[in-house]
Amino acid sequence: MIGGLHDVLMPAGAQAQAILALWHWLLPICTLVFVAIMAALWLAVRRAPRVAQDDPPDVSSLFEREPKVTRTVWIAVAVSTVLLLALLAASVFTDRAIARLPLANALHIELTGYQWWWAVRYDDADPSRIFTTANELHVPVGRPVIVSLAGADVIHSFWVPSLHGKKDLIPGRDATVSFRADRPGIYRGQCAEYCGYQHAHMVLYVVADAPDVYERWAAQQRKPAVAPVNDEQARGRELFVAKSCAMCHAINGTSAQARNAPDLTHVASRMTIGAGTLENSVSARAAWILDPQQFKPGAKMPGENLAPAELAALNAYLGSLS
Ligand code: CUA
Repeated sequence: MIGGLHDVLMPAGAQAQAILALWHWLLPICTLVFVAIMAALWLAVRRAPRVAQDDPPDVSSLFEREPKVTRTVWIAVAVSTVLLLALLAASVFTDRAIARLPLANALHIELTGYQWWWAVRYDDADPSRIFTTANELHVPVGRPVIVSLAGADVIHSFWVPSLHGKKDLIPGRDATVSFRADRPGIYRGQCAEYCGYQHAHMVLYVVADAPDVYERWAAQQRKPAVAPVNDEQARGRELFVAKSCAMCHAINGTSAQARNAPDLTHVASRMTIGAGTLENSVSARAAWILDPQQFKPGAKMPGENLAPAELAALNAYLGSLS
């Protein structure tokens, strides 16, 4: 796995902590109930009278009073009711604890799920500070984040277990999820609603950094793409806007402005490509550009016929987009 923990048992925020605390109650209680039911079943089967296949059925017990059995059943009903009510109360209190997150001074992010990647738009009251990235959220530690969720094609689901529970991205329906990362780290998220062939390759990383580190990252993301510093990179940029790349991807500062695929303005700053499919290395990028279907069959990106020198130039340009 490429970077980041995907672990419900390692909460990094108050909400994931509350969900984990609930789970610490649910698991032992439900395990006990399961074991008790299995034991009762085993006892019942063992104590049932043994008969041969041809014996007439003995239904006499239906007409007998069995005070001991009746009492046991009533006790079991009472215990089940009390346990169910206790678990109901625990889950209601957990829900309230999750909803209590203070949202003053929150960061606003719009997250859109596509088959099979995530578009991420950082909102701001000042339009010049809005920027777009993909498949990687960066957030400042200690500051609440409100994420508006949208599904572009089918239903997807936002799930970063170290920060919060699941929340669906449903086309045509507005929803938000709020969380706050309390510890710096890289938290792996995953689309949690089956959304087609490459559902499993729909990974979202949340990188929680100290506020000053986050601000530096955001300032860099707001800038247009860096200009090529040598001939090879310049050739790569030419190829990018001339070939089919520019029909789907955007690179700010160039004529490539399509929004059907991840924004690549700062693609070199990201950890992975293909929404967590491959590590973002020179060799993986080259292999991906030539034949993405080999790694992510069904993804909308077609392979590109490039001469080796063209591929190297394109890759050098993409690698410069930090
Ligand atoms: Cu998107 Cu599963």
